[in-house]
Formats: sequence, C-alpha cells, structure tokens
Amino acid sequence: MSDNLAKMGAARVCRTSYHGIECIEKSQASNVEFQFYLQVAPAFRRAGIGVPELLASDTTTQTLTLEYIPYPIGQDALLQNPDVLSTIACIHQFLGNEGGIFKRHTWLRDKTERALELLKLPDESAAIISETEKLSACLFSPSTLISGDTNAGNWGIREQGSAVLYDWERFSTGSPAIDLAPLIKGMGNIADFVHIAKRYQEVSPYCHSPALAQEIAICKLWVVTEVIDILYRNNKVELNKYLDWYRFNLPAWLQKLRFFLNA
Ligand SMILES: Nc1ncnc2c1ncn2[C@@H]1O[C@H](COP(=O)(O)OP(=O)(O)O)[C@@H](O)[C@H]1O
Ligand SMILES: [Mg+2]
Repeated sequence: MSDNLAKMGAARVCRTSYHGIECIEKSQASNVEFQFYLQVAPAFRRAGIGVPELLASDTTTQTLTLEYIPYPIGQDALLQNPDVLSTIACIHQFLGNEGGIFKRHTWLRDKTERALELLKLPDESAAIISETEKLSACLFSPSTLISGDTNAGNWGIREQGSAVLYDWERFSTGSPAIDLAPLIKGMGNIADFVHIAKRYQEVSPYCHSPALAQEIAICKLWVVTEVIDILYRNNKVELNKYLDWYRFNLPAWLQKLRFFLNA
C-alpha cells in the first residue's frame, strides 16, 4: 500500500490492490463523496461523465475502493484536453438528483476574516476582498450540479485515453464558474477569465459569457479563502507556503479585479 496521497482533504487516500487489481482506497471519505459514489456516479457514468468505477465500499469506515486512473493531467494540459470542458458541461447539464447530498458552499464573513488575519495584506487589498465577498451570492444560488473541485490534481486519464474526474468531496450545486475557475493556472488574469467563459459558451450555448467571466474572477478569490481555511483547519504544513505566495501576488491582482468587476 502506498503512503497517504491525500492533498487538501481530510480523507486518507492510498494506492493498493483489490483482488489483484490496482486500485485507490479512500478511507474516512466525507458523506458527500461516499454518497456520490453510491447514488450519483452510476447515472453520471451512463451520461458519459468520466467517474472512476466503484469496486467496493465499506460504510463503517466510509471507505471507497476505486478504479485506479493511471495518468495524471498537468495544469497546462487541462484546457488542451477536449474531454475536460465537455465533461464539466455535461455535469452542469445533468438533470435530476433532487434531494441529493451536497457539500454546502458559502463565502461567509468568518472565512474572509480568517484569511485577512493570516494574510496581513495592505488595507486597500483587504477592502477589495471584503467588497468581493459581498458579491459572491451569484456563485452559490444556481441549482446547477457542479463537481466543486475540478483542479488539475483531481483529473486522470485512462489507458484508453478518456479523462476521468475523481475527488467528489465538494460535489454540490452552484455556478458553472466554480468548476471553470480551477482550469486557470494560479490566480489568472482578466483575459483568462474572458477566454474560458467564451470557451465554455461554445459547449453551453445558453450561458452569458460576460457575466460568467466575472463570476470566475469572484470565484478565484473565494477559492483563496477556501484554501486558507482548509489548510488551517487540517493543520497542513503547506499553509505558510500558500500565505507567502498570496501575500506577494494578491495586491496587484486585486486592483485588476476591482477594475474588472466595476467595468
Ligand atoms: N481513482 C484514482 N486514480 C488515480 N489516482 C487517484 C485516484 N483518486 C485519487 N488519486 C490520487 O490521490 C490524490 C488525492 O486524492 P483525492 O481524492 O483528490 O483527495 P484529496 O481530497 O486529498 O485531494 C489525487 O490527487 C490523485 O493523485
Ligand atoms: Mg483532490
């Protein structure tokens, strides 16, 4: 069995074998992810959404034994892979699953306060973060199904070449922007937000790409507060590395965000 592969989450993830088949074992999985694999994944697979096969599950330890997806997709390759955007659009177009078990995504004041306390940014930057938090309801009100975590570390490619999304801990409803923002490397810039919103409109013609681009920008900042919160709550050693990176990069990025959101 491999060492714990878990990244941000609290579950334990190991590479092991099940009846001689290479697999991934995720134990202490969240209820949202556990129920996703039992209740939603079969319908998603039938709709053509790439989800690992569930080889076994154990309710007492909340353990999922999942098909091992051999090849990772790097951040730079995400947007080059046509399966990625079409998989995301397919999730968003999926109808049904009323009354499902979802992670409830919100951007509450306490997360902003925690982030500001740890980041110690200049006052002007802190003010933009607080202003943006007040605009964030547009991310959480839609009833569209979302993966909630499409970052590059959660995608893999099967031997036959198709893309698969694992890690359904943040499965929820919300704006498509929540699934599009992670496709952009780092904090991204305005041109990136506009570009990805237009690319998405090609596979999802009813979306309004200028509004979506702004939601993607807001989402990028929400993710900063989420990452800080998760790393802090799970006592992850990477917290300081992230804080340093944000301190260096956020002030100039926030100025551009304010301009974009007020345009
Ligand atoms: N089905 C899978 N096939 C191959 N690798 C996987 C699979 N599931 C998880 N992994 C690996 O384990 C890592 C952590 O698993 P993940 O489900 O993303 O948990 P976390 O919530 O910690 O991010 C992934 O980034 C990936 O490297
Ligand atoms: Mg993950």
